[in-house]
Amino acid sequence: MVDTTNSWLLSRVSARLITALLGGGLGWWFGTHIGYPATTSVFVGAAAVLSLTVFDTLKGYKLLDWLRTPEAETPNLPGLWGEVGHRIYRVLRNKDMQLAEEQRRLQQFLSAIQASPNGLLLLDENEHITWISDAAADHFGLDPVRDLRQRVTNLIRQPAFVQYLQSRDYKDPVKCLMPRGMQGFISVQARRYGDGQTLILSQDITERERADNMRRDFVANVSHEIRTPLTVLSGFIETLASLPLTEVERTKVIGLMSQQADRMQTLVADLLTLAQIEGSPRPASDRWTPIASLMRRLQVDAEGLSRGRHPLTFTIDSQGREVELAGVESEWISAMGNLVSNAIRYTPDGGSVDVRWACLPEGGGEFSVRDGGIGIEAEHIPRLTERFYRVDSSRSRGTGGTGLGLSIVKHVVQRHGGEMRITSEPGRGSTFSIQVPAARVKAH
Ligand SMILES: Nc1ncnc2c1ncn2[C@@H]1O[C@H](COP(=O)(O)OP(=O)(O)O)[C@@H](O)[C@H]1O
Ligand SMILES: [Mg+2]
Repeated sequence: MVDTTNSWLLSRVSARLITALLGGGLGWWFGTHIGYPATTSVFVGAAAVLSLTVFDTLKGYKLLDWLRTPEAETPNLPGLWGEVGHRIYRVLRNKDMQLAEEQRRLQQFLSAIQASPNGLLLLDENEHITWISDAAADHFGLDPVRDLRQRVTNLIRQPAFVQYLQSRDYKDPVKCLMPRGMQGFISVQARRYGDGQTLILSQDITERERADNMRRDFVANVSHEIRTPLTVLSGFIETLASLPLTEVERTKVIGLMSQQADRMQTLVADLLTLAQIEGSPRPASDRWTPIASLMRRLQVDAEGLSRGRHPLTFTIDSQGREVELAGVESEWISAMGNLVSNAIRYTPDGGSVDVRWACLPEGGGEFSVRDGGIGIEAEHIPRLTERFYRVDSSRSRGTGGTGLGLSIVKHVVQRHGGEMRITSEPGRGSTFSIQVPAARVKAH
């Protein structure tokens, strides 16, 4: 350092000396030509050239000062230095503009990655985090700023993740849990890039997992529901085939067999209804069915089911107007019929069942079924519309239930833009109601 400073000083001094010498020589030559004394000429010449170079150097320093703090205003210099300053200014400005453009593009690129629902995590060759997208921060419970430059396995300690990363076999993704408190699953896939860096992609698969579980449960439930009557049926078939039965016994066994077959038939019918409702588009709102005819059909079916065991009432409250309901008639019948048959099946003999349609003052209407039956404990109510959910399985099966009724009702109601409400008090009875939006009710 000292050496460089010294040699720099030396070169400056020798440059000045040479300039002074040149100036002195020039002054002597010119001065003596026009008759001035030699010493004065040398002195004046040296002084003139020296002050010119000093003046020039000062301009150079001004430019240098500006270059050291480029944000300061560009110096307005005359002549050569001015041109140099101007050129430098233009080069710098172009570079600035290029940099700004690059930065804008980088920002756009990063925002595109941030807009993706999938997470992205970048690691350097030592598995230290270099970038975290917002989604990845969510998926792994990381802080996009604080956790930079940390070793990833210090922060994500799940054995499945650590093992996957260490295995270096990134062909397939691995399933990991979301951080505590989030109760979900993510699929994580790593890829190598550059010189040993790693890219980690994460995807929220909570919904997919839930759907998979539901499908598995559903298949298991259906198999179970079908296996029970099937076992009973095959038992009876064996009895019929191997034992000599009297006519009375035979009639009894065949009666029981037909009960089991009916049970399977109802189950398959309900499954088909559910599949059909789920797979078909939203029902059009230009097909109208009169409420009066719906209620008549419900009443006939209800009377057949109750066989006089319950006082039944069917009321239409529409201030004397004809009311029509839009949607798929068979679906409405199925939904409303399910509620009515539940009310009858879960109400002991003598308990009343009131079925009612009411036009609401703000438009739309409400179909409700109130029973004086066994009622439902509050904790079961939110789960009643799950497939095969039953509060009391033996009562449900004993009365021909499949456990699918309310899930069909819920689907039908949702498809028609309505809403189902349940209120119940154990031992006193329940009210199931369907709110139908104004767009699907016509009163005239
Ligand atoms: N009106 C009601 N009173 C009491 N419990 C009911 C009533 N309606 C439905 N439930 C309960 O809800 C469960 C689910 O009903 P649902 O889906 O129609 O199936 P199920 O075929 O068993 O009737 C029933 O098993 C029953 O426990
Ligand atoms: Mg039912």
